[in-house]
Amino acid sequence: MSLVVTKNFGNPQSWTLDSYRAAGGYTALARVLREMTPEDVSDLIKASGLSGRGGAFFPTGLKWEFVRKDPKTPRYVVVNGDESEPGTYVNRYSLELDPHLMLEGMIIAAYACHATLGYVYIRGEYGLAHERTQAAIRDAYAAGFLGSGILGTSGFDFDITFRRGAGAYIVGEETALFNSLEGKRGNPRYKPPFPTNVGVWGLPTAINNVETLSAVPDIMRNGAEWFQDLGRGEAAGTKMYCLSGHVAEPGVHELPMGVTARELIYDYGGGVAGGRGLKGFKPGGASSAPLTPNELDAALEPKSMGALGTIMGTGGVVVFDETTDMVDVAYRDALFFEEESCGFCIPCREGAPNLVQICERILHGQGTMDDLELLEELGASMMASFCGLGQFAHQPVRGAARRFREDFVAHIEGRPIPAAAS
Ligand SMILES: Cc1cc2nc3c(=O)[nH]c(=O)nc-3n(C[C@H](O)[C@H](O)[C@H](O)COP(=O)(O)O)c2cc1C
Ligand code: SF4
Repeated sequence: MSLVVTKNFGNPQSWTLDSYRAAGGYTALARVLREMTPEDVSDLIKASGLSGRGGAFFPTGLKWEFVRKDPKTPRYVVVNGDESEPGTYVNRYSLELDPHLMLEGMIIAAYACHATLGYVYIRGEYGLAHERTQAAIRDAYAAGFLGSGILGTSGFDFDITFRRGAGAYIVGEETALFNSLEGKRGNPRYKPPFPTNVGVWGLPTAINNVETLSAVPDIMRNGAEWFQDLGRGEAAGTKMYCLSGHVAEPGVHELPMGVTARELIYDYGGGVAGGRGLKGFKPGGASSAPLTPNELDAALEPKSMGALGTIMGTGGVVVFDETTDMVDVAYRDALFFEEESCGFCIPCREGAPNLVQICERILHGQGTMDDLELLEELGASMMASFCGLGQFAHQPVRGAARRFREDFVAHIEGRPIPAAAS
């Protein structure tokens, strides 16, 4: 299978400009500037089926077209490298091992959007990624891939500012990230208007995930159909999945979008650590509802995951062996969201600590069956939260209480936790 976003990872000094150029880097940009109009670029991306790898899966070419068509200037391209979802570490690999691939995609995005300014925003804790991405930006300027009159063109100017995050999960949400870039408190903004029209500094902005932009150069080189065909069924392209938890070989694998969880965990991850049985798995990091071994053959792509009442998110698959107490898993997820709730709206600010309290009661043998009802009601009220954090924060707890009910009931009744899902 063709690798798209991880293809250079094994090259010596893969993060340097020399290594990237030796592997054909920046030839897609040169061709785009020579042969294509901005409209051609966004049309090709639309036809490829590339959709946002940050978890919302919005069609990337359409986003760029919206930005280009907004008459306000300057227009911006922002790279979202805030990656803070527990269980997800794909952007970190890209930024440490191949920052030029993301930069080339970003510059092509700027061309398609008629954007002149850009930000690269990277999670605060990603030290090596900061170092290598900043070096890549400096080298790209020196080589004429950034700045004024890129590659000798007259009229295509694009400048990038690097920004380091300050350690808040919520700032991965696009409008909270804009507030952070503007030096404000990082809470989300009301949508609509959407970032394509009112983004950073109130101007049209294409914000994209690192992985989304890293797919762009090869789509330009090989065409829309090629990319589309890399995915399974209707799903287009490849996806960087990352495996963690009780798996024999944790790590990142670039595979066809829509690979099954069984293939990922058993064929690529070597199965459950220590040869133990599988209790369950999460398909999309902390925000996703866990699934059972009966659902191992579901395709890891947004539609199939949605049909199961969970989310694909950013492809962070977390494995739980047969000894796992799923109430404890739900409790830890609830603690994370309580900690990361920005406190801006009531359903999330009050709901997240309530989730923690209910889980605590059940874990400590003080829960009742009414608590399971309460979880459902609380989850429904959290759906009214202002942003995705609160709208999804209850899913891992509610999902666990539905699919792994026997663990919750065992705690309530003071019995041992069963090894399998009920
Ligand atoms: C709470 C929350 C956290 C998010 N964190 C990230 C993140 O770390 N990285 C990211 O690319 N998108 C994140 N998103 C999604 C972004 O809001 C946005 O959809 C994405 O950056 C758009 O880029 P894409 O179209 O390439 O996916 C988050 C959304 C929410 C609600
Ligand atoms: S849902 Fe949570 S994180 Fe989002 S605005 Fe409300 S309090 Fe903040």
